[in-house]
Amino acid sequence: MGRVMERKLGFWAVMVFAAVLEVGRAQLAEDFYGGTCPNVESIVKQVVTTKFGQTFVTFPATLRLFFHDCFIEGCDGSILITSPNGDAEKDAPDNLSLAGDGFDTVIKAKQAVEATCPGIVSCADILAIAARDVVVLAGGPSFNVELGRRDGLISKASLVAGKLPEPNFDLDQLNTIFSRNGLTQSDMIALSGAHTVGFSHCNRFANRLYSFSSSSPVDPTLNSTYAVQLKQACPQNVDPQIAIDMDPVTPQTFDNMYYKNLVQGMGLFTSDESLIADSASKPTVQDFANNPGNFNQAFATAMRKLGRVGAKTGSQGEIRRDCTAFNS
Ligand code: HEM
Ligand SMILES: *[C@@H]1O[C@H](CO)[C@@H](O)[C@H](O)[C@H]1NC(C)=O
Ligand SMILES: *[C@@H]1O[C@H](CO)[C@@H](O)[C@H](O)[C@H]1NC(C)=O
Repeated sequence: MGRVMERKLGFWAVMVFAAVLEVGRAQLAEDFYGGTCPNVESIVKQVVTTKFGQTFVTFPATLRLFFHDCFIEGCDGSILITSPNGDAEKDAPDNLSLAGDGFDTVIKAKQAVEATCPGIVSCADILAIAARDVVVLAGGPSFNVELGRRDGLISKASLVAGKLPEPNFDLDQLNTIFSRNGLTQSDMIALSGAHTVGFSHCNRFANRLYSFSSSSPVDPTLNSTYAVQLKQACPQNVDPQIAIDMDPVTPQTFDNMYYKNLVQGMGLFTSDESLIADSASKPTVQDFANNPGNFNQAFATAMRKLGRVGAKTGSQGEIRRDCTAFNS
């Protein structure tokens, strides 16, 4: 066999091998619905835009819903399932009071998509598109969303414990839980920037105001002016329903204010504060505070990576007809 022929055969062997690998992995693709539902993204965007115009909560609620979906059983729409017995993923105490407007957004978008392309687009993909759309509507970076996720067949409250980060976590604990999902410390810091919008209930951080330690009831790392404001908004033993803006400066804009706040000792949770307190993460926080472009780019990259977590593809799972119920 001549040398050229040998090289050609080698080339084809590599190509075939690569193709087999591709099929085996059944990767997500930006144009996954190009031939089957080419308008899916504009249909979803229209529903999200209408809903966003009705209530701003659409934004934080949808973004957080995507995060929680992905960290439990992967980005597979499992968080959307409603169980008559109250034992589905969203019923877990750790669902951390997910606001109903996120669920409503996905359900409405799915109905609109079904009217055009029935049985084609997964609820998991609709949530991924909607999470990107709300970020853009609030002034954040745009990015292409990879598609082709299938909807999961498991949704159990009992599977939630220990899978989500808690507001009292330190940097090591945050890194552990994010790296388990294939995300780096830099991804984790960028995604935490989502706390530039939305609300937190007082009981998630009240320990930092009233019972931090025996010598100092207020967490000494908390900006003292901010601590006074927080105490006013969240009096001791208050109604657990009360929630406050997590970014008191620009609460309705997707910007890098979260990091600017951290630099001033205005991180709301211990987990937020730990990003600026720990010398291992501080330089990234300072970079994102000073360079909004770097933050936007890191956030977009991390959102795409988040969207790959545990994604089911090919013949796994199903395409749910109704996002709140398994097909059978
Ligand atoms: C780094 C670890 C994280 C911790 C410890 C954490 C914790 C929390 C807590 C305790 C709340 C308040 C919930 C409430 O009282 O209602 C909250 C809200 C929120 N989180 Fe996180 N989170 C983290 C990361 C993320 C990520 C990665 C995202 C999305 C990319 C995200 C998006 C949100 C949003 C948008 C809200 C506001 C929800 C609303 O207003 O309905 N968080 N988070
Ligand atoms: C979250 O879980 C609590 C119970 O822990 C439940 O009362 C609440 O309705 C759940 N939230 C959603 C949106 O399902
Ligand atoms: C505390 O926050 C205020 C703004 O609310 C800021 O002017 C001040 O510099 C901050 N203090 C520290 C120590 O960062």
